[in-house]
Amino acid sequence: MTNRVTRISGSGSYLPDRILTNDELAAQIDTSDAWIRERTGIAQRHIAAEGQTTSDLGVEAARRALDDAGLTIADIDLIVVATTTPDFVFPSTATVIQARLGMDHGAAFDVQAVCSGFVYALSVTDALLKTGQHKRALLIGAETMSRILNWEDRSTCVLFGDGAGAWVLSAEEASPEAADRQPGVIGSYLRSDGRLKELLHTTGGPSSTRSSGYLVMQGNAVFRHAVVNISEAMTTLMRQHGLTGEDVDWFVPHQANQRILEAVAKRLGIASGKVISTVANHGNTSAASVPLAFDVAVQDGRIKRGDLCLLEALGGGLTWGSALVRY
Ligand code: UT7
Repeated sequence: MTNRVTRISGSGSYLPDRILTNDELAAQIDTSDAWIRERTGIAQRHIAAEGQTTSDLGVEAARRALDDAGLTIADIDLIVVATTTPDFVFPSTATVIQARLGMDHGAAFDVQAVCSGFVYALSVTDALLKTGQHKRALLIGAETMSRILNWEDRSTCVLFGDGAGAWVLSAEEASPEAADRQPGVIGSYLRSDGRLKELLHTTGGPSSTRSSGYLVMQGNAVFRHAVVNISEAMTTLMRQHGLTGEDVDWFVPHQANQRILEAVAKRLGIASGKVISTVANHGNTSAASVPLAFDVAVQDGRIKRGDLCLLEALGGGLTWGSALVRY
């Protein structure tokens, strides 16, 4: 188990075509472009078309990640999808994507940790690859958050968007270098506190109301938890690996709010030029936000092979966590 490393072989992402601007929202509800930009940093978000599902977004992101890795679905033996907005209660979105990609072998399942989903799923996938149980995985964060928003609630509907991001992860033999020096997943740190459910949740579910309900949030309470808990998750993980904010090449945070990104980076001593922010263009895409932001920065040439990247997220549950990867 200790002689394997999980490498990021490819990255991809997909955003639906439809862009919804702050001004469009301001024409429908009591809000303004100025308020949304000032309080969140969000200028626009992408919204899935009628009939376009989470698996549709995930399939596109997965195809792009496979192309980037120079691999085909035949090379993959595990699909893990992080989502809060599955196509169906069952089957899992991962098995829907498995069928759509024409994969007739291996295994596929979903991970549900809301906005922390990608960090949780990365941790689970890394562990499965390191045991040798699977060799190569598609790890996908995909969401259609627009489907669980109350579009009359200005305190939440302006914040979220739809999209998907994906990684191809490969189990490889570790080189003799120190674990944090070679490319791959260095470590992850997961936390949750279910007592904080009321701060961010949906008003329903199949077993309680027979419907998904709508997202509700006590925004400023979640904001305070986000800054404190994310900072703690990142500090703990870096300390475990003998690293500091100065060692990090890129900070790839969950894209909930520009003010949270900045506050956390400042606490950790990470220079603002190292922060990957897509919140202005994507809004909060929940489990898709970290791989989407990562892919944008890979595509525009900022994140390069060998760079040390620190990921984090916090979401409903509350759940939160961090991960260190060398690309
Ligand atoms: O991904 C999961 C994790 N989620 C997060 O991390 C989100 C964390 N929370 C936040 O990002 C912020 O708390 C929000 C952006 C949600 C809200 O910002 P805030 O500075 O905490 O505002 P607030 O909730 O304290 O509300 C301030 C005022 C209120 O009016 P009054 O009571 O002061 O008169 C709200 O009614 O802003 C009002 N307001 C709005 N005004 C215009 C709330 N939403 C809007 C809106 N447009 N869309």
